[in-house]
Amino acid sequence: MRLGMLTGGGDCPGLNAVIRAVVRKAIDGYGDRVIGFRQGWKGVLEDTCEELTIESTKGILPRGGTILGSSRTNPQKREDGVSRVRETLTRNELDGLIVIGGEDTLGAANRLHAEGINVIGVPKTIDNDLGATDVTFGFDTALQIATDAIDRVHSTGESHSRIMVVEVMGRTAGWIALHAGIAGGADVILIPEIPFDIEEVCRLIRRRHDRGRHFSVVVAAEGAVPKEGTAMTLPEGDLDEFGHPRLGGIGQALEAEIEHRTGYETRATVLGHIQRGGTPTAFDRVLGTRVGLAAVVAAHEGNWGMMAALRSSEIELVTLADAVAEVRHVPVAEYERYEVLFG
Ligand code: F6P
Repeated sequence: MRLGMLTGGGDCPGLNAVIRAVVRKAIDGYGDRVIGFRQGWKGVLEDTCEELTIESTKGILPRGGTILGSSRTNPQKREDGVSRVRETLTRNELDGLIVIGGEDTLGAANRLHAEGINVIGVPKTIDNDLGATDVTFGFDTALQIATDAIDRVHSTGESHSRIMVVEVMGRTAGWIALHAGIAGGADVILIPEIPFDIEEVCRLIRRRHDRGRHFSVVVAAEGAVPKEGTAMTLPEGDLDEFGHPRLGGIGQALEAEIEHRTGYETRATVLGHIQRGGTPTAFDRVLGTRVGLAAVVAAHEGNWGMMAALRSSEIELVTLADAVAEVRHVPVAEYERYEVLFG
């Protein structure tokens, strides 16, 4: 078999573990050839690729990022997208494509599958917001980085009796904020799923002061928003070149509001891309390896249109359509379970 492979969307620790596993399984397990496309769907549209070998993928397991490069290019946004993908596959005599990506990248894969193109999906995102899988590789690493940052901010906040705001990634799903906030003992956690009331945030902080705790840690997902009709509003953000809102800014906005309303000195830290860079945790290396191996088996069994997903403790195949049907949000009940720990 000749298999193509690409990594699309925001990069994510564990991508190289998947690439390595796919190459090993395909070449040593089945005697296949593997072609890697550069920078996600962009490489398929422009036919920029290279053959991947055991030799060329040596030593990549602990490395962050992706040796293939990535982009947010989406073939569906071009009129000739489907035909160009088809032409590239034919020109390179490929039997199918292993597509490693999040919602956008796999959404495109799903639609290409409906056009008769052979694809197998591998879920990746630090945001952990893809459907039909319990967790995505990259999340564990981002969570650990965010938790370490909260721990560090905690000690300096305590020394200076300050309110420390930590802004983490998470556009529409608050998994990183919630889990890092719980792991780091945050006093307030704000997630996109549940619009917040700034007065309630300040009430929790004041209550801590009344109890003799003169510092607090507030963790906010970048996509957290104030509840409509409450005292705080956010400025409209710009769009990036692919039309996604460019988030960020909630940390600074909270810093100003909290300091103004409570009178307590407040500092914000924005973790940004630090959460996405660097070496993956052992969990993400193993999960990336498992889904990579399963993707090659799925291709050999002709399970096109499917995605390798972690369900309970097993890797199973689910349809790409199910995976991208809707964003996997933090359930309100899960957030509410932790509320007793706030303030
Ligand atoms: O989708 C993953 C993610 O890291 C989001 O959490 C974040 O909002 C976005 O990517 C940032 O994208 P970019 O790297 O294009 O600024």
